[in-house]
Amino acid sequence: MKEYFEIKNRRYLGGKQKLLKFIEAVIEENTVNVTSYADIFGGTGVVADMFYQKGNRLIVNDLLFSNYICYQCFFSMESYNKNKVFNYINYLNEIDQVKGYVTKNFGNKYFSEENAGKIDAIRETIEKIDDINTREKCILLTSLLYAMDKVANTVGHYDAYRKVMDSKKRIVLKYPKINNHIISTSLYNEDANEVIKKISADLVYIDPPYNSRGYENTYHVIENIIEWKKPKVEGISMKAVNRKEKTSKYTKKDAPHAFNELIKNIEAKYILVSFNNTEQKANSRSNAKISKEQILSILNEKGNVKVYEKNFNNFTTGKSHSINHKEMLYLCEVTNE
Ligand SMILES: C[S@@+](CC[C@H](N)C(=O)[O-])C[C@H]1O[C@@H](n2cnc3c(N)ncnc32)[C@H](O)[C@@H]1O
Repeated sequence: MKEYFEIKNRRYLGGKQKLLKFIEAVIEENTVNVTSYADIFGGTGVVADMFYQKGNRLIVNDLLFSNYICYQCFFSMESYNKNKVFNYINYLNEIDQVKGYVTKNFGNKYFSEENAGKIDAIRETIEKIDDINTREKCILLTSLLYAMDKVANTVGHYDAYRKVMDSKKRIVLKYPKINNHIISTSLYNEDANEVIKKISADLVYIDPPYNSRGYENTYHVIENIIEWKKPKVEGISMKAVNRKEKTSKYTKKDAPHAFNELIKNIEAKYILVSFNNTEQKANSRSNAKISKEQILSILNEKGNVKVYEKNFNNFTTGKSHSINHKEMLYLCEVTNE
């Protein structure tokens, strides 16, 4: 039996899968004539995927290369040969393990020794296949990314691996469920503040990181294996030394300034910003770098703002208690371009 995965089948910090209905309702009920959308902090791409089903033009961007690879799998306009790619997925599932970069650095840590060897073999083979186009390669890499996520010996992020190797399930590549739509898409792997100077859309959706946890750290293993530049790794958590190039301004104290610059440069009818009220604790990495008041005053400069909120029960990773937090959406109808 063929096994498929969908774009939403991925663990991701701040992923909005559970909030899609809320986001959709706010847009449906409070905007008119929106046919083009931009998701410039795209993450997994689940919000972009909702826009993909509704609009006739879509722009998706993220600073992480691994996310950009997934966008090409799910949203690229390039055609692909489904049979050929699915045959390659079958083939990759059958090849023998080898000992390479993944085994050396992440074996018996983030992955079982066997899975690390399998990932080494699959990743090297994908690099060598020479009769596939860019999208077909991205489909194979996305299949590997989702498969790694399923067997990683972690609680969902890669700041640390579990002390005891209890993720022995064998890695299996599945087929992506791609809902092809004939719409125009533009996919980017850049700083959102740069992308925004080149694009325009009816609605621009903004979901940046709001605290000091950088995604280049949280997903360093995935990013490293998908990029396959084989950098040196450092520390107990084996983070790639080159990840610092991907540090986001939004995780630093400069975040309000970056946000202000971003909003100023937006060309759109509507701007929709996601935010949550995670608690403020002394010296905590979860503290927001931008306050609600700052968001509101920056958006007020651009147009008329309405705020929508939803209670959201967030189970903190690894702990049994939950914090009841609110998810906010700021919708700005642009009047000052
Ligand atoms: C809260 S997550 C977005 C989650 C996404 N909406 C979803 O549902 O999966 C924030 C994303 O912004 C990306 N990011 C951080 N700084 C960025 C920047 N300066 N430009 C573009 N993307 C950035 C991170 O890599 C991360 O994927």
